[in-house]
Amino acid sequence: MLPLTGRVDVHTHLLPGVDDGCETVEESITCARALVAAGYTHAFCTPHVWPDLPGTNAREIGQRVADLQTGFDRADVPLTLLPGGENNLLSVWPQIREKPRGEVVTLGLLGRYVLFDFWTDIAEMVRERIEPAVRHLRDQGFELILAHPERIAALQKDLRALDRLTELGVKLQLNSWCLAEPRGDRRRDVAERLLKEGRYFLIGTDLHRPSGMAARIKGISVAEQLVGADEVERLTVGNPRELMGVE
Ligand SMILES: [Fe+2]
Repeated sequence: MLPLTGRVDVHTHLLPGVDDGCETVEESITCARALVAAGYTHAFCTPHVWPDLPGTNAREIGQRVADLQTGFDRADVPLTLLPGGENNLLSVWPQIREKPRGEVVTLGLLGRYVLFDFWTDIAEMVRERIEPAVRHLRDQGFELILAHPERIAALQKDLRALDRLTELGVKLQLNSWCLAEPRGDRRRDVAERLLKEGRYFLIGTDLHRPSGMAARIKGISVAEQLVGADEVERLTVGNPRELMGVE
C-alpha cells in the first residue's frame, strides 16, 4: 500500500551527533529521504534524554531541530521536523520529582505528551520504579507514551506488567522494524499480538542510521498486511496529529 502521504514519524534519532542516532547531517538527510519516499511529511526528533547526555534538554533540542530543518530545506528534503525526546524513566526516577514541570522534554515541546522508555528484564523494577514515575508524571498533567513495549524484556515475559501501565493511562508506540523480524522472534511476536489486539496508539520507526531504514519501512508494510491500511493510517497519520496539537 505504500506510499500514503501525510504520515508522521513520532520517534526518530534524526538529530545528528547527539546520541547513538545519525552522526552527520548527511546521514540525517539520507534517512529523511527514505521517510519521504514512504509517505512521511513530518517527523519528531526524539533524541535519548538521559541525565548524563549533554545537549538533550528542551532548549538545545529546539535549536538543533531548527538547524537540521535549515539543512533539510537547503537540500530540498520535504520533511517538516518537530522537537521532542525519548525520556529514559528508569534513570531519572526518583530525581524527576524535583524537576520543574517546564523542563520535562515533551513531544513538540508542547508540555503535554511525554515519550518514554526503560530497559529491564525484571518485572519488579516496572512495579517499583516505572509505575511510580508514571503516576508522578500523570499527576503533573502529562500524557505518557511508552516507546516500543515489544522490545522490553520484562514486558515480553509478563504482559500483566504492561497491562498495569496501560491501566495507568500509558499509550503504546510500536517500533515498525520489529514487524520486519521473522516470526518466532519475541519482539515480532509481541508486536504482532499487540497490533492485532488494537493496543497501539502510534507506530514510529525509531530510526537511527541509514542502514536500518529498509527494515523500518518494511515494517509499515507488514503492519498493513496484518491489520489493514486504514488501521495503519490511524497509527501513522491520524493519532500523531494529536501530538502536534492538531485536533
Ligand atoms: Fe528511540
